[in-house]
Formats: sequence, structure tokens, C-alpha cells
Amino acid sequence: MKILGIETSCDETSVGIINDKGEILSNLVYSQVQKHAPYGGIVPEVASREHVKAIGWVYNLALEQARTNLKEINLIAVTAGPGLQGPLLVGISFAKGLSLALNIPLIGVNHLMGHLYSCMIEDTAFKPPFLALVVTGGHTLIVLVEDIFVHKILGSTRDDAAGECLDKAARLLGLGYPGGPAIEKAALGGNASYYRLPVPLKKEDSLDFSFSGLKTAVYYLVEELKKNGKEIQVNHLSASVQEAVFSSLLDRLEKAQDKTGVEKIAVVGGVASNERLKYRLREFTEKRHLVLSVPSPALCTDNGVISAFVGLLKHSYNRIDNNIIDAQPFLTLQE
Ligand code: KG4
Ligand code: ZN
Repeated sequence: MKILGIETSCDETSVGIINDKGEILSNLVYSQVQKHAPYGGIVPEVASREHVKAIGWVYNLALEQARTNLKEINLIAVTAGPGLQGPLLVGISFAKGLSLALNIPLIGVNHLMGHLYSCMIEDTAFKPPFLALVVTGGHTLIVLVEDIFVHKILGSTRDDAAGECLDKAARLLGLGYPGGPAIEKAALGGNASYYRLPVPLKKEDSLDFSFSGLKTAVYYLVEELKKNGKEIQVNHLSASVQEAVFSSLLDRLEKAQDKTGVEKIAVVGGVASNERLKYRLREFTEKRHLVLSVPSPALCTDNGVISAFVGLLKHSYNRIDNNIIDAQPFLTLQE
């Protein structure tokens, strides 16, 4: 059995193919970053058009790299949401066409589940129960995964997501888009104590997050430095922002671990590809003798394999349904 996963929820056009052991046969990702960079962020209309242009060749190349014949594909899994409506519809329409033309079953998958279970693709020994920190451009969640498809959200962001905060701070610092990797690069050699920034909700007992205050603090700091004619030390400020965001993530993760006693930790989503965050996570988990699973960067950021993997899990756990697939921009992990 082979599963073909399609992902177009944001600005990556991706097709991934896996086998029934969850092994990756190919994972093609066309990033539209260069197309959106001049605008400083993702333009949904541009994203839809780029997906339409790319989806065909990305699909062909994914099949070619997987050395797979179409007859060997038994299931198509496509991201149904959350994400941008137009971009989602491109992937869904393509998947529907493929499914009808080739008579292969098609299911819609929740992109957040794709990220959530991405920690089990390479690390095959990593199984529930685990605590997951999901950190993407649109979501920041702490989830208790009791079993496959049995999970509870313990905390989420009240405003901006962690990735969004890094993206917005990068914009304020003139580092361009996408902000997370740009901040990571600029922060190398920077001193995180040079500028003082608040660690959001540090004293609160809840497992929620809030990053809009931090973003505002960066804004006022930059304005003040400009007003006083002082040079902005971009490397120091990048390091400070990164450290404040990650301290908040670690603080919540520690609290969640205290509360649940769960000894396995997964950190997934685009932000989890950050080396500094991974360093701090290793420090934390080693100190507490916890097991840590962080996917390799290619599986942290958006890709088709994570959709295919949810398809495989749905197949294995008899969760395949015949629901009509529609784009669900605001789909949550609960649904
Ligand atoms: O999971 P993802 O690719 O897409 C969403 O589902 O949102 O996450 C994208 C987010 C962006 O905010 C991006 O800036 C951030 O992940 N990101 C990073 C890094 N690579 C991507 N943040 C920090 N360090 C990175 N190396
Ligand atoms: Zn994503």
C-alpha cells in the first residue's frame, strides 16, 4: 500500500508519498517564498495562483522520485484545513480530479493533525501518550495526546502564534519574510541579554500563550532607538526576541509536564526547525530525563508527507470516512 499526500494550505505546494510502514518515498516541496517576499508576507491570491501553476509538476516529480506507478497508490490524503481558502481549494480540486480519474479513494485531513503526528514518522518508536507543543505560523498549542486520535488541548495562544510573532518581529527589524529563519540567522552571535524583553505570561499558572505584547514591546523598542538616533543592534535584538519567545514556550511546556507527568515530549511545526529552540528543549528534557521527539526540518515545515501520514493513521485506525471534502479554513484540532 502507498499513500499520496497533498498539502497546499499556505505557501508551500507539496506532494509526498509514503508506504504502509510510514516510510517516506518522496516529499516534494515547492516553496513560494520568493513570490511573497516583496510583500513582506503571504498574499492569498498570489499563493492560489502559484499553487495552480506548481501542483502538476510537483505531483509528477513526487511520483518520479518515489519510483512509484500510479497503480500502486491506494489512498490520496489532502489537507482540508486549516489554512487559506483559495490555496486549500487548489489542492482539494487537484486531489478530487486525481481520485475520480484514477478511481483511488480520497480523504481530507486536518493539517494540525499532520503536524501533531509528524513526530512519529522518523522516530518510529515514539508513540502516545505524549505531550506535544505545536508551533506553526498560525497556531501555538500544547496538546496531551493520550492515544492516536485521542487528544486534549491543554493550552493555546490568546492572540498571535509563536511563528507569527517571529515573522512580525523580523519585519520590524527589516529582516524580511519568512521571519523565523531570518531571525534565527540574525541571532547567531547575538547577545540575548543586550535588550530586555518581557517573557509573556511567565507568572501565570495557565498553559495559554500570548505573543502580541512581545511584538508590541519590540515595536516600541525599535521606535525609541530610532527616535534617539541609536543604532539598532539587529543581531542582539533578534537573539532577545527569539529567547523571549522560546522562554515562554519552555515555561508552558515545563508547567504542562508538571501537571500531567507525561514523560514524552514532541515539538512540531515550522518553529521546531529552529536550532536554538532545539538546544533549549534538549536541556529541558535531559534535566528531567524525558524523551524528546522533534522531526527533521523538512517535516517541521509544511509538506505532503505529514498529510499522507495522517491518511495512513486514519486507514490503520479505521477512520476513513466518505465525507464530501471542502476547504475548512478555520478547522481546529478538536474537529
Ligand atoms: O508549520 P509551518 O511551516 O506553516 C504553518 O502551518 O504555519 O510554520 C511556519 C512558521 C513561520 O512563522 C516561520 O517563520 C516559522 O514557522 N519558522 C521558523 C523557522 N522556520 C520556520 N521559526 C523559527 N526558526 C526557524 N528556523
Ligand atoms: Zn503547517
